[in-house]
Amino acid sequence: MEVYLAPMQGLTDWIFRESFYEHIGQFDKAFAPFIRVQNGDFYHPSQCNDILPEHNTFQKPVPQFLGNDGASFQHFEELCQKHDYTEANINLGCPFIKVTGKGMGAGMLPHPDKVAGLLETIFATTKLKVSVKCRLGLEHATEFEPLISVFNDYPIEEMILHPRVGKQMYKGEVDQEAFARYAPKLKHPICYNGDIATLADIDKIQSLVPGISRIMIGRGILQNPFLLAEIRNQELSKAEKSSMLRNFHISLIERCKEKYSGDLNILRRLEEMWSYHAEGFEDGRKIFKQVKKCNTLAKYEVVLFKAISELI
Ligand SMILES: Cc1cc2nc3c(=O)[nH]c(=O)nc-3n(C[C@H](O)[C@H](O)[C@H](O)COP(=O)(O)O)c2cc1C
Repeated sequence: MEVYLAPMQGLTDWIFRESFYEHIGQFDKAFAPFIRVQNGDFYHPSQCNDILPEHNTFQKPVPQFLGNDGASFQHFEELCQKHDYTEANINLGCPFIKVTGKGMGAGMLPHPDKVAGLLETIFATTKLKVSVKCRLGLEHATEFEPLISVFNDYPIEEMILHPRVGKQMYKGEVDQEAFARYAPKLKHPICYNGDIATLADIDKIQSLVPGISRIMIGRGILQNPFLLAEIRNQELSKAEKSSMLRNFHISLIERCKEKYSGDLNILRRLEEMWSYHAEGFEDGRKIFKQVKKCNTLAKYEVVLFKAISELI
């Protein structure tokens, strides 16, 4: 089973990825959070920092493009080539209104002609391997049906499908039945993404779609960083796990200090991760409340090390 790290803006950035690789493990691929490009320009140029080679010393991620026109992709491809990337991913899943309202992310899915137009211009010239990460639609899963033949017309490296629609955001049920219906109709290698938190979740999707050999995990890894080792049948003792987790967290703090100034900015960044990470702890709600209360890194470290010592 190939295991990919999901792109999560503000969460699985270089700070997380480098710390994770250094102390916990490497994924088969990691996808970097999107870089939004609009009218041929980077929308937030700072998003490009995430893929700088000096921020990706252990394993290069797959950069992700969020945009809806060929000129923007070309600008993005130049950035990728400048940093020696050979593969990129197109985001057709972002559900936020500020993105979908501009006809990007999941906002493209109700318009197969626009998806076809974008893929046509990209594949006419790109030198990159290009994969697509998408949802089933913006409002209805049936929006996916006319998209199948569009995707099948292009040499897409792989299709990563998160079987929700945009209007669900990240909540509600994943529509695994729809995934099982549509996945075999796509001619590309398929990767399943959505709500994988345990080995049983993987068994379930494998029994629904036999032969699925790639999965992408986001929140499940934040919740249980050892899920990757479990999938690979790597046995870890309690002492190994707590030392790995401790070192991972120390690295996160050190790398946050490089990016953010002041304890409060660092704590805000870490708090977002804890909104998922705490779920892996028995008294996670209490720990998350304590994390939110911290106003200095020194106080945070007390909460952190106590939580880790009580874990597992
Ligand atoms: C806070 C947050 C940020 C996300 N940012 C991105 C992103 O930059 N690009 C993307 O393709 N998906 C993004 N996603 C979606 C995830 O990659 C993934 O598709 C989704 O969380 C479902 O997988 P999971 O249940 O394993 O987390 C984001 C999700 C969350 C919750």
